Amino acid sequence: MSKFTVEGKQRLSGLLKVNGAKNSALKLMAASLLGQGIFWIEDVPQIADVLTMCGVLRALGVEAELANNRLNLVVNSLQGRPPWDLVRSMRASIQIMGPLLAKLGWVEVAKPGGCAIGARPLDLHLSGFEKMGAVIETTNGLIKARAKRLQGADITLRYPSVGATENIMMAAVLARGETIIRNAAREPEIVDIQNFLNKMGARIEGAGGALIKIKGVTDLGAADFKVIPDRIEAGTYILAALISQGEITLENIVPEHLGALLDVVKTLGGEIEFKNGRLTVHSPAKLKPFEVSTNPYPGFPTDLQPQLVVVATQAGGLSTLRESVFNQRFGYIPQLEKMGARIKVKDYTAFIQGHSPLNGANLVVSDLRAGAALVLAALAARGESAISGIEHIDRGYEQMEEKLSLLGAKIKRSLGKGGLSEK
Ligand code: UD1
Repeated sequence: MSKFTVEGKQRLSGLLKVNGAKNSALKLMAASLLGQGIFWIEDVPQIADVLTMCGVLRALGVEAELANNRLNLVVNSLQGRPPWDLVRSMRASIQIMGPLLAKLGWVEVAKPGGCAIGARPLDLHLSGFEKMGAVIETTNGLIKARAKRLQGADITLRYPSVGATENIMMAAVLARGETIIRNAAREPEIVDIQNFLNKMGARIEGAGGALIKIKGVTDLGAADFKVIPDRIEAGTYILAALISQGEITLENIVPEHLGALLDVVKTLGGEIEFKNGRLTVHSPAKLKPFEVSTNPYPGFPTDLQPQLVVVATQAGGLSTLRESVFNQRFGYIPQLEKMGARIKVKDYTAFIQGHSPLNGANLVVSDLRAGAALVLAALAARGESAISGIEHIDRGYEQMEEKLSLLGAKIKRSLGKGGLSEK
């Protein structure tokens, strides 16, 4: 098993280029199934989840090649039954359901399980497809859906689920008539998917707002496209700089996508400058405590919650962070307690005592963003930490240790059977 060894207490500073967004790239790959022809997608992060999605697409009949963050896809004829193990290994692969159902009239996928951050039901995805006329059967861990041609429908989501909004939007693109999605998720990645699909010939408007309208078309072509910057990767490195009392400049960044995080940075006492397309964050001499709740976009992202909890351990006083999106997203806290953090969790809220000196420890990663948080904790700790389970980190961060080393961190990867591999 690969692991990171981190020697803490180094101040981070310097310039970093942010990758394209994982949570957009994966969905653009799924959306390509709706079209036909040759696609070139730029700024695709070279991370394990993207390699897994390449595997899923290939199994469906797509040619997929990723080199130098440039993804080439050739979409011709498809089949609708992706291998069970690939779909189960990555939840985002459920996003192929909408496109395949719309394009082929049927799809069969393995039902993904829950995961380390909580129950992750699919009821909103499936009831959306049903409203569009699909017949769905779930047996023995398999979801089978079919529909001769999906019909446009007026769908109100009980909760603005990112995945359900995207899956229904993609299915609706080839449906007969108009689909309206109300209480849609408003994440920037959804706007990116709308722009990509419209470039392929779809007729979608309203993404980024709570009401999305999709006028169905009969077929779609291909498109060349550039993925938006990854706001979660950017946020992770901003918080890493703050916890080390450093200074970081990021390029390839859209500050408006980071609004809720930048508000918290200001509350913490940090200063922010945006000049010539680059964003610089300066740390204060002392971090101030805060009260934050995660929320759907434009609220504070749940995917930065664990990293912010770590920052709170070094702030002056008591901070509170409420998790409102996932029901089990504090599972990493015992790892922080091993290092000396003082945190109580009650009713989905973490109460974090600041001024807690952290000590290096042997840490085990349980999920992607918790992994990033443990790296931040190790950067802030006195002494050496060994972090195992870093394959979770490789799912979503491209060469994290190299990027942090460029900023002055002392972090090394020791390879078990390691690095990125195609699944
Ligand atoms: C996506 C992101 C993930 C991020 C999350 C919230 C990708 C690949 N992943 O996940 O990084 O943390 O958005 O910003 O883009 N829910 C239901 N029924 C459903 C679907 C969801 O009850 O059918 C609930 C979930 O259990 C959860 C909440 O809605 O409590 C949010 O989930 P959702 O927005 O769907 O997240 P994902 O799309 O899975």
